[in-house]
Amino acid sequence: MEIRMTNLTKIFTSKNKKEVRAVDHVDLKIPSGKLIGLLGPSGCGKSTTLYLIAGLLRQNEGEIFFGDEEVTETPPEKRGIGLVFQNYALYPHMTVRENILFPLQNLKVEKEEAIRRTVEIAELVGLQEMLDRKPKELSGGQQQRVAIARALVKKPRVLLLDEPLSNLDARLRLQTREEIKRIQRETQITTVFVTHDQEEAMSISDEIVVMKDGVIQQMGEPQYVYNFPINLFVAKFLGSPQINIFDGEIKNKEILINSMKVGDTKLEDQKVTIGIRPEGFIVDTKKESNFHFVIDLVETIGRDTTLIIEIPGNEGGLLDKKTFKAIVDSDYKIGVGHDVYFKVKPGKMYLFDASGSVL
Ligand SMILES: Nc1ncnc2c1ncn2[C@@H]1O[C@H](COP(=O)(O)OP(=O)(O)OP(=O)(O)O)[C@@H](O)[C@H]1O
Ligand SMILES: [Mg+2]
Repeated sequence: MEIRMTNLTKIFTSKNKKEVRAVDHVDLKIPSGKLIGLLGPSGCGKSTTLYLIAGLLRQNEGEIFFGDEEVTETPPEKRGIGLVFQNYALYPHMTVRENILFPLQNLKVEKEEAIRRTVEIAELVGLQEMLDRKPKELSGGQQQRVAIARALVKKPRVLLLDEPLSNLDARLRLQTREEIKRIQRETQITTVFVTHDQEEAMSISDEIVVMKDGVIQQMGEPQYVYNFPINLFVAKFLGSPQINIFDGEIKNKEILINSMKVGDTKLEDQKVTIGIRPEGFIVDTKKESNFHFVIDLVETIGRDTTLIIEIPGNEGGLLDKKTFKAIVDSDYKIGVGHDVYFKVKPGKMYLFDASGSVL
């Protein structure tokens, strides 16, 4: 089921009459059968968007469609959605079976059919052995699977997940996210997965939507958005360690950082912001380039060595010294205090104008 939003806007008014545009003229098409990661920093409007799709909040402007059907004025219980929140919200006094069955009783589904569907869904989420347990006898990951089963048993048209992994520890988080991916693939249900964790969104989603201040910045396949960020915000939000940012300039078709040449361009002379991914540096052992720095710190973890380098001329006192990170092959024998020469890998450097748009 395709979800389509046009011109969707939600304004909250706080007590001091200040308006917050939590969702600001959003046009978004979520393709049928896909898992979409809705991603952005805290307060950017992810949950609000999800609750508008669910019908739990009322928009100030705009329309929402499920396929060809407009659902803008449809109450939540008639939209055919399954919702899962961060806190599992299970009924503690009920068994897993009763928890999953509960929505079907509400829908007055015939008893035999309801029991059949409960067992089927329990198998899908891998809980068939645990149907008689109470929530407190389950791990966090298992409890969240019950919540997902309960959302799916109604055969919803869309599945909406709001930070479903936030309460789990690191290992369970990874495991449960793989599980969600598998369940989504098997059911082919159109799913919106909200998270502020870029790595989580990148790993689980068919496509990601990056949001900032209620406005959609970019949508696309995770690797595409990573490789071709539309602006500085998206470039900085995706990737760990973060992309390195330099003040730079273009002069006579050359890209310069601290007057050192890092590349060529067809662009006219101007000041630019330059982003280089940490994995975008190649150590130039022949010292052909003149793009070089003195190394301040070296961290070697397994295959990779991370060089941490202060950007000369950018230091503004001890606390906000500007540094950058270059991840290079650990075969290079490089030490603190050495002068290291770099080349930049094609496609790993981006130029941004004063407004932050990619050039
Ligand atoms: N009921 C409300 N009343 C007033 N303002 C609200 C309300 N709900 C959300 N907001 C504001 O709307 C903006 C978007 O909030 P939202 O909950 O959608 O963000 P979010 O992206 O889900 O953030 P988080 O990652 O912290 O969950 C924020 O500025 C928030 O303070
Ligand atoms: Mg939220």
